[in-house]
Amino acid sequence: MRIAVFSAQPYDQRFLDQENHHPDCELVYFNLLLNETNVEVCKQFDAVCAFVNDDLSAPVLKKLKARGVRYIALRCAGFNNVDLLAAKTLNLPVVRVPAYSPEAVAEHTLALILGLNRKTHKAFNRVREQNFSLNGLLGFNLHGRTVGLVGTGQIGIATARILKGFGCRLLACDPYENDDFIELGGEYVSLNRLYQEADIITLHCPLTEQSQHLIDEEAISHMKDGVMLINTSRGGLVDTQALVAGLKTRRIGALGLDVYEQESELFFHDHSGEIIDDELFQRLLTFPNVMITGHQGFFTEDALTQIARTTLDNLYALADGQNCVNELTQSIT
Ligand code: NAI
Repeated sequence: MRIAVFSAQPYDQRFLDQENHHPDCELVYFNLLLNETNVEVCKQFDAVCAFVNDDLSAPVLKKLKARGVRYIALRCAGFNNVDLLAAKTLNLPVVRVPAYSPEAVAEHTLALILGLNRKTHKAFNRVREQNFSLNGLLGFNLHGRTVGLVGTGQIGIATARILKGFGCRLLACDPYENDDFIELGGEYVSLNRLYQEADIITLHCPLTEQSQHLIDEEAISHMKDGVMLINTSRGGLVDTQALVAGLKTRRIGALGLDVYEQESELFFHDHSGEIIDDELFQRLLTFPNVMITGHQGFFTEDALTQIARTTLDNLYALADGQNCVNELTQSIT
């Protein structure tokens, strides 16, 4: 089986090669974001292995199928970039990695919360410049604060467990209640009550048609003054213009983002020598109370090992004509 690996970074190659124990499986790496234009490179490949920002819309899938591609393997959990209906019509099975170390993303969520709260990034720079002033570094105790989790699936629960250890009061909103959350002492409430009571709001639900711009101007208007908002899920969950407005009115007191709606043009690449035209992104960077990381929640050795192993197992299963438990079906959405 020949697999074209898109959006391939050196770390993808390292972990996929390390986990590839199948003698007949050849991995070819492309440091390209898959789209309608460069789909041409897919000649004589059985499978395409894609990541979060690769375009797997109907036109791209059609072209892949026409070039003989038989399987699509996502090396991520989210699948908002895939037209599943088109894939089904084209008889192109799509497999993903539904769970890989949810703790990786949960721990990064905490890194953003703690970094924003105790301003460790600023303290680090100050101390290096022999500036030991504490002015502007004031934080608050997490102990006793209310955290609202939107989504209590694998990552939401892993985050809730850590927050429980900090002594936080836990609220959540999810159409499917998770017993583990109740056992942690958490309480399911309406989205409105979560907005009204949470000191910190953290998003852990998938991006779907229903959840697109879940956090908009209206939602922000119901939140507590000075709320800390964290998004390590998908950029499209928030209306970025509304976030900027919320930061300007001080309704949002701190913002931590690991994802950004227009991230596909920016993230995972070094643009340090270039001028970035995205004015909204540049505006976000001007706020002292905003911390942005470039979609690195998943980026731990443990998670990359699991992603590589599951991605390859998924493909071996499909190639062997077996049922793959990680195949996406319409009913999952
Ligand atoms: P999951 O499928 O285990 O849990 C998602 C939960 O969200 C489910 O309980 C579901 O019922 C709930 N949900 C769906 N729509 C909702 C809504 N409108 N409001 C509230 N809850 C809703 O998924 P998992 O593994 O916890 O991942 C969550 C998201 O994290 C993924 O969809 C992906 O977008 C993102 N992610 C980010 C990564 C990063 O590196 N920053 C890495 C991996 C995932």
